[in-house]
Amino acid sequence: MPGLTAPSDYAEEPPRHPALKINSKEPFNAEPHRSALVTSYITPVDFFYKRNHGPIPKVEDLSRYSVCISGLVNKPIQLSMADIWALPKYNVTATLQCAGNRRTAMSKVRKVRGVGWDISALGNATWGGAKLSDVLELVGIPKLSSVTSLGGKHVEFVSVDKCKEEKGGPYTASIPLKQATDPDADVLLAYEMNGEVLNRDHGYPLRVVVPGVIGARSVKWLDSIKITEEECQGFFTQKDYKMFPPTVDWDNINWSTRRPQMDFPVQSAICTLEDVDVIKEGKARIAGYALSGGGRGIERVDISVDGGKTWVEAHRYQKDGVPYVSDGPQSDKWAWVLFEATLDIPANAEIVAKAVDAAANVQPENVEDMEPERNPQHILASDQDTEFVMRWKI
Ligand code: MTE
Repeated sequence: MPGLTAPSDYAEEPPRHPALKINSKEPFNAEPHRSALVTSYITPVDFFYKRNHGPIPKVEDLSRYSVCISGLVNKPIQLSMADIWALPKYNVTATLQCAGNRRTAMSKVRKVRGVGWDISALGNATWGGAKLSDVLELVGIPKLSSVTSLGGKHVEFVSVDKCKEEKGGPYTASIPLKQATDPDADVLLAYEMNGEVLNRDHGYPLRVVVPGVIGARSVKWLDSIKITEEECQGFFTQKDYKMFPPTVDWDNINWSTRRPQMDFPVQSAICTLEDVDVIKEGKARIAGYALSGGGRGIERVDISVDGGKTWVEAHRYQKDGVPYVSDGPQSDKWAWVLFEATLDIPANAEIVAKAVDAAANVQPENVEDMEPERNPQHILASDQDTEFVMRWKI
């Protein structure tokens, strides 16, 4: 029996924490409650969102598991877990976020399809594993390469899960070779999450983690890696997670005109408020998360209690005892920033939080103003691309 196999039904799913909110049972898609999300900088594994497209693969015998690296390389190889463990180990704290995060709010304003998500389809973990740039050196690709001697420009990750979008085939995704071979991009083949062995839901025994990029590129249950000339031609790269202009004709869509989305946009969300009716006049603690893609830090989080007429700056933090400085050397560049402010809530308050990143990108004010039209099947690219602010009225 091979090391890694994919069941064709849901009879052998792993156990999950009962506190998760289930958005779809089969495949299993779930997120924590928003108030639980920001109680800690590092998200406990049990409360980390789970985003799947098929039954969870399993490993019968880890000693038989291996990752094959082939394609446009001179020395294809087969790596066992022992080979991966033997490489230098790095711990990278990075926020993984599904491109569909906050789709439910968007669907109240625009017609969207796909699994609904509240604001918790993200989590911040410390991933332990080998750097992809070190792994690729084993097949003769030097660090900081844009193209291999055989013309390879992309690194494609292939899993084993059976996804209906791929007509029962596996989940795939790719990233540019330049990013994969850049040690500072911190792309990992991770076998640990928060200091524990990766669990089945999150990709055991080995997954890719591409920091600063939509979660769709962080392939779980890694089976093989191919060095290719073109980017991945699979569904999740070519027919999903793309941004189109408002003029798009959804009945005659030409997917090839748009590039797959990579970095996620700047955004923030308030996690301490559940509903319009929970907030009352008086003092209230407003807290949540803010993050931006591509390793850009969070320069500011502004909060307004009067619908955006006046703003106060929230306190931002990551690690205990370490002041957060956007893009500072002690900050975790790939990780979210938590924010908080205790404010006097007036009568007729409208509470809004808005993040600004280190490149001066600002969160759009509302979903109606957002430029791109949705992909009606998987709105993901565009809802991620412009994360509008959240508003509460009392
Ligand atoms: N990898 C495989 N093999 N199958 C999947 O369904 N989902 C992707 C990505 N990697 C997926 C995958 C998506 S869309 C996201 S957002 C993240 O995994 C979710 O990772 P998590 O479940 O560990 O939070």
